[in-house]
Amino acid sequence: MRAATGRAPSKLILLGEHAVVYGHPAVAVPLQKPGAEASVVATEGDAPVAVELKDFDIRWSRGEDIPADEVRPFAELVGSVSRRYESIPENGWSLSVSSEIPIGCGLGSGAAVSVAAFRAVFRCFGVPHTPRELSDSAYEIEKIHHGTPSGIDNTVIATGRPVLFRKGAAPDFLNAPEAPVFLVVGYTGVRHKTVEIVSDVAKARAADRAAYDAMFREIGDIARRGAEAFENGAFEELGGLMGANQRLLERIGVSSPELDGLVRAAQKAGALGAKLSGAGRGGCMAALAADRASAERLKGALESAGAAAAVVATVLERGKGS
Ligand code: PMV
Repeated sequence: MRAATGRAPSKLILLGEHAVVYGHPAVAVPLQKPGAEASVVATEGDAPVAVELKDFDIRWSRGEDIPADEVRPFAELVGSVSRRYESIPENGWSLSVSSEIPIGCGLGSGAAVSVAAFRAVFRCFGVPHTPRELSDSAYEIEKIHHGTPSGIDNTVIATGRPVLFRKGAAPDFLNAPEAPVFLVVGYTGVRHKTVEIVSDVAKARAADRAAYDAMFREIGDIARRGAEAFENGAFEELGGLMGANQRLLERIGVSSPELDGLVRAAQKAGALGAKLSGAGRGGCMAALAADRASAERLKGALESAGAAAAVVATVLERGKGS
């Protein structure tokens, strides 16, 4: 019996969401926690491939009707790997997946479970794979969840590296600064549907193209400057850019009263900067703190301001993602 496991980090968009869909750069970082995990066991018999989604207590075997939408990406995943890789058998193995990453929150839960699953499958059957292949495989699955994702989630999560990402271009990986980066993530508790918000933004842009394209350009510029500030550990500057990005996201129409409330609470509690992160209208926000003590204060302030949960997050160290 062969078996293997795979892990994947979550991701946080520091700057540039939505504009990234229109070809502008965005900055995203992998977070050590929360993360996703998968395991594969090969029994080598000819029982149909089985999938277990631990968080939902759902089991499914190939050939059965799909019991819930959550299973669909994994049904596609297990089918595609045995079609694409000769050493991966069509039958006789099972995949089990679990994740600590809240769904619909802007932390890339879909890409993280896919990356963890591909990693476990490739490892179990001895398929050599580069982070790029892992990222491309996860992107195929992302398209089932999201329609036309920019690709930022799978890139950051599969490589486990901070990135200045531009759709369609080779990722420009960033060096994490020497000083630790203290980020606090606050969840609104409101689950969002990225595909709907992206489509609403597209409609708003169609109605006022010049204004929206100007805002997207400004956001792209903020992301470029933010990438440099991040690498240099210029946190005051990075925080200021996060604030400027939040004001533009509000004008684009993707913030919400819950997000605005948490952003204001973080600012009042001394954050260097705070903004929504991900698609918006719920999901999560992120605040940048000057040091650990300030991060803990911000966490408390977010909880008092009504966050469903708040965590002090650490940017993943290189080589620790899998
Ligand atoms: O909330 P999330 O993690 O689905 O992030 C969405 C980020 C967008 O820029 C809004 C969409 C995308 O595909 O990049």
